Amino acid sequence: MNVNVVLVGHVDHGKSTLIGRLLYDSESIKDERVEEIQKLAEEYKRRFEFAYFLDSFEDELKEERTIDTVSLMFKSKRNYYTITDVPGHKEFIKNMLTGASHADVAVLVVSAEEGVQEQTRRHMFLLKMLGIKQVFVAVNKMDAVEYKKDRFETVKSQISELLNSFGYAAKKMLFIPASAMEGDNIYRRSEGMEWYEGPTLIEALDGVTQEGREKPPRFVVQDVYEVNGEKTIAGRVESGMLRRGDEMVFEPSGAEGEIEEIKVFGGELEEARAGDSIGVIINFNDEGVRRGDVGGLIGNPPKPTKEFLGEAVLLGKELKRGETLELRCGTAKVRSEIREIKEKIDSETGAVIESNPEGINEHDAATIVFATEPLVVEKFVDIPELGRFVLVKNGRNIGAGVVLDATSSF
Ligand code: GTP
Ligand code: MG
Repeated sequence: MNVNVVLVGHVDHGKSTLIGRLLYDSESIKDERVEEIQKLAEEYKRRFEFAYFLDSFEDELKEERTIDTVSLMFKSKRNYYTITDVPGHKEFIKNMLTGASHADVAVLVVSAEEGVQEQTRRHMFLLKMLGIKQVFVAVNKMDAVEYKKDRFETVKSQISELLNSFGYAAKKMLFIPASAMEGDNIYRRSEGMEWYEGPTLIEALDGVTQEGREKPPRFVVQDVYEVNGEKTIAGRVESGMLRRGDEMVFEPSGAEGEIEEIKVFGGELEEARAGDSIGVIINFNDEGVRRGDVGGLIGNPPKPTKEFLGEAVLLGKELKRGETLELRCGTAKVRSEIREIKEKIDSETGAVIESNPEGINEHDAATIVFATEPLVVEKFVDIPELGRFVLVKNGRNIGAGVVLDATSSF
């Protein structure tokens, strides 16, 4: 199984070190790499730190392309993991909302020394908003608090309290006392914390489940091109499954047709599943399909909407009722108007601050009614890939959100 993990937490609480530890203990890092990095560490006369692994990867990656977040792969006995380290809350939102992948599970890293901090709260709020149902809290740096059980319990109850105040009902929530630096309860069971009887982090991750593969198919169109007179629609299956012979409809263009062929790089498929990037050749009644369209089956089609209710967080600037901006969802980019701001929400506590405000500011969250050009969206809880959107103003991402309700009657 492929599991996507997102790693969040306050600055310096040990996210990079934790990834380094996972890579190292799962033997995903080659030996020469360890030596090389150890040498580097000595040169700087610093203690050997696992965060170095990640930093050196980061540099390599940055040379090739600009990225805000770092994704690394490692393998346990059971699963393949893609783990994404998110430096700050802006990067987190961007990654979650523009990223192609959806996190199956979040690991929240909290320092046992410092406990809950500002970014811990923000991240927790976002995890809730994004509907991540499985959250593991690594109470890290237990070595720095002499592996004391009461310190762990204090941090645990701090976090539980906060989660309750958000009304966050994660399906699976687990607290693990750990030391990323020393390797306690990450891959290896800690010897210094015999009072803890729960799973190690990797045991917890190996127990992660993935929800519903039997959702209705949704195919996001990236491009339409013609080779030798044959029109191919390229895109990605975001949910469900498509088979040769299926009757499809694309919205908002309204084009309909039957799948004649499903192409992948270097071959052909009988069926394609969520996550597959494919090209489909369709026997069309109409040629209007274009980038931004979403395809589905005629029996359970994607429904274009002109108005929906969303919850968004503002990353910069301000937003006022009546304002127009660009809204991006899937590959669609449409003009959108802020029709109504229903509630302004504190993104640290989740509390409603004001009803029907005129506007909101940086870091505020809000429930907003968006009026848009025809667009396919889905409720985030149903199909997350089509249930998240980004708000763009003058070419800059100023906010991001999730779709709460896509029917036009609120
Ligand atoms: P940012 O990327 O800046 O948000 O920080 P981070 O969360 O990635 O933290 P990082 O892994 O860089 O660790 C921050 C500092 O805490 C480093 O000096 C680490 O060596 C230290 N640290 C990380 N994990 C542990 C741990 O388990 N125990 C102790 N004592 N120190 C740790
Ligand atoms: Mg880091």
